[in-house]
Amino acid sequence: MSNKDFTTGLVPNEVYKVEAFGNSFKLIDASGTKVGTMGITTGTRKKAYQNGEAVQAYINKNGKKTYRRVDMNVYNSLVIPMNTQEGGVQFEDKGDHTAIKDFIHKGSVSLKPTELVMEELKWKYLIRSAVRAKNIMMTGPSGCGKTMASKALVTALDRPDFYFNLGATQDPRATLIGNTHFDKQKGTFFSESAFVTAIKTPNAVILLDELSRAHPDAWNILMTVLDQGQRYLRLDEAEGSPIVNVAEGVTFIATANIGNEYTSTRVMDRAILDRFVTIEMDVLDDVKELGLLKFMFPEVGEDDLKAIAEISHHTRTQSMSENGKLTSMVSTRASVEMAGLIYDGFELEEAAEISIYPFFSQDGGVDSERTYVKQLVQKYQKDENGEPLFKEVDDTESNEDEIPQF
Ligand SMILES: Nc1ncnc2c1ncn2[C@@H]1O[C@H](COP(=O)(O)OP(=O)(O)OP(=O)(O)O)[C@@H](O)[C@H]1O
Ligand SMILES: [Mg+2]
Repeated sequence: MSNKDFTTGLVPNEVYKVEAFGNSFKLIDASGTKVGTMGITTGTRKKAYQNGEAVQAYINKNGKKTYRRVDMNVYNSLVIPMNTQEGGVQFEDKGDHTAIKDFIHKGSVSLKPTELVMEELKWKYLIRSAVRAKNIMMTGPSGCGKTMASKALVTALDRPDFYFNLGATQDPRATLIGNTHFDKQKGTFFSESAFVTAIKTPNAVILLDELSRAHPDAWNILMTVLDQGQRYLRLDEAEGSPIVNVAEGVTFIATANIGNEYTSTRVMDRAILDRFVTIEMDVLDDVKELGLLKFMFPEVGEDDLKAIAEISHHTRTQSMSENGKLTSMVSTRASVEMAGLIYDGFELEEAAEISIYPFFSQDGGVDSERTYVKQLVQKYQKDENGEPLFKEVDDTESNEDEIPQF
């Protein structure tokens, strides 16, 4: 991934807003407290004030701290909202509703990583749900960015975070509650799980990745935890056994592959789904896919990236339409993988063979989905002179049966 970090040297948490008091320009830190001038010249402070900009600390090449004018969103994004138990919100320094609206609609925008392709409206809804202490469920097919978006949210919020991959756990009780041990001296004792620690942490953001692949026991255990009216975890099934309350401001974000072709995804219980607001990740179209690939691999020829974007898009429309020729699609994960292989010197056909053919069945030989996708890829192959290897099918020739029309 091209990691163009324009912000090298900037100190992430040292950002001030400038306010005018008569003729002087005072600095306000992220908690709303007036601070000194920090050695910043009057000129810089005045200019920032006039331009509606913030000022951010910057460590230059010689290790000296200076200050730069930056977008006000950088400051706004630092003013972190706090969830309250009722699901209401308080800003640490500002009690008014303008502050939270500003954060959702202005501050949050600059917090979305450029490499995450997601509609701005959905990103804002994601931020808003977290700020309002909702449980959030990201849904969509495999490899469409659910985990990526959830992790981006966690980073954006700058709150204590915990990650649990429930799709990978074999023993939900041990993962979510803990283990009972026996020791000769101490006798039987209980060691609580990392999950118990997480729910006891105020304002924690807890990522429950692959919740749809979790064991049904995990869903049962989570039922009371996720219920806004209960918010507790029972350490034992027995009535009257100890409980752990979910701390104030804790937000859960889960991911689920709902409505896709993978059988390992169990059909989720309605009761557990009802405990979340859902955000459906978009499956990217060819234009957005190409934009992402160009951003990630600016060094790879555009022809190849365009081919990948179009091939992916074609499989997506086919697999999503009722009478489509395919039952699975090339995910964004797979198309990014393909572009990465081409970046490392593989040919388009080779990259396709490695990263996308395995997703398509060979059943049916020449009529198989795999054959169909291979022919699709061939359409984009070039010879040594960069000429298409297979010419577009000419209408006047009668070989339409051999090469599908795309
Ligand atoms: N919307 C997107 N924007 C940018 N990159 C994406 C997007 N979707 C997928 N990717 C790429 O694909 C990779 C896999 O995405 P991610 O792990 O978030 O998928 P997922 O939806 O969680 O899949 P799964 O259901 O298999 O867990 C990412 O690391 C990224 O490179
Ligand atoms: Mg995932």
